[in-house]
This record gives sequence, C-alpha cells and structure tokens, in this order.
Amino acid sequence: MKISSVEFITSSKSINECPKRTQIPEYAFIGRSNVGKSSLINFLTNSKIAKTSSTPGKTQLINHYLINKNWFLVDLPGYGYAKTSKKNRTDFDVFTKKYLLNRVNLLCVFVLIDIRVEPQKNDILFINWLGENEIPFIRIFSKSDKQKKNNIDNIIKKHRDSLMERWAKEPDYIISSSKKKIGKELILERINNMNSLMK
Ligand code: GTP
Ligand code: MG
Repeated sequence: MKISSVEFITSSKSINECPKRTQIPEYAFIGRSNVGKSSLINFLTNSKIAKTSSTPGKTQLINHYLINKNWFLVDLPGYGYAKTSKKNRTDFDVFTKKYLLNRVNLLCVFVLIDIRVEPQKNDILFINWLGENEIPFIRIFSKSDKQKKNNIDNIIKKHRDSLMERWAKEPDYIISSSKKKIGKELILERINNMNSLMK
C-alpha cells in the first residue's frame, strides 16, 4: 500500500473528544514509553508528523492521523514509565483502556515490544488484558537494529513461553526497526487487508 497523504487531525484527552468519523478503519499503536511508537508512525507514513523524544513519556494524548484520507493511525501514550506518578498510571489505565474498549472503528492494536529487553511483566499483562477483552492485536518487536539475530529469536521465544501459559496459539508478531527501515511493508500489508474488510 502506498501512503499518499498524512494529516494530523486532533489530540484528544478522552474517547469523547476523538474524531466522530467512526465509519473508517482505525489502528492504534501502544506499548511501554520510549519503545518507539511515534517513530514507527513516522517511518510508516514517511513523515515527521508524530513527536518523538529520547525522554520517555513524550506522547500524552490520543493523537489521530488521517492516512490517504480514509483511515486513521493513532499514537497513544506509553505505559510503564517508572518515573510516572501513581496518579498518571491510574489515568493511563482509565483513559487508554476506555478508548481501547469503546472505540467502535478500532480494528487492530499494534503492541510494540522492545526487542532489546527480556519479556516485561507489564507487556505480558497488557497483552493478556487485550486477549481477555477480545481486542484484536499484532505484536511488533521494535528496535531490532539494536539486537543480534540470535538474540532476537531468543527473546521472541521467551515471549512465547510467557504467553503460552494463557494462550492456546501464539499471537502474531512482526519485527521492526524504524532506524534501519525494517517491517514497514508487512505492517502496511496487514493494515491494507483489514481496510478491505471495512469496505
Ligand atoms: P513515548 O511517546 O514517550 O511513549 O515514546 P514512544 O514509544 O513514542 O517512542 P519514540 O518514538 O519517541 O522513540 C523513543 C526513542 O527511541 C527515541 O530516541 C527514538 O529515536 C528511539 N527509537 C525509536 N525507534 C527506534 C528504532 O527502530 N531503533 C533505534 N535504535 N532507536 C529507535
Ligand atoms: Mg510517543
């Protein structure tokens, strides 16, 4: 799929403020702070539209981008940033989970997982929560430029082992690197296939 236009639409503090165009497909990017969500959105759209930062906690709102005038990409705040106050963490739970549970046109959530580190409890809990709530998702192992091939296989296996306690089938995944430009075609192909389901 070719991306021919990218427009920032709005930043919302809650699902009530999100764009009213709920007849078009929507895909959200989520994951721990600093995992590379905003960078991936820029890579996929070949733009600098999403704000990125080496300081975790950059994205604080639900940001809607309209792609090719007929589907939304959504950049969400990260979870699990250690320095975030307890109140902020509760806000994340209420605000993001409310969006994920209630946004009617949300077709799939892309859950970014940092391939540089061992499986993290908050990633596993979040993935299990998506499963319990029957929210479709695809895992994206990000920053693969920072990890050796053998270690990539090893970390993905560890994730499989942590999930297989609860999952009958291993959830899908794609490996990406915004820096080395890996994974874009696979992600856009999945989005294209899902877009055609809404037509
Ligand atoms: P929050 O909005 O704070 O939750 O972070 P985020 O998940 O949107 O991360 P962001 O895209 O802002 O990137 C965080 C840092 O990781 C930045 O310094 C990026 O340059 C870096 N980064 C993002 N993607 C990659 C990647 O594929 N490879 C490498 N090496 N660094 C990356
Ligand atoms: Mg961000």
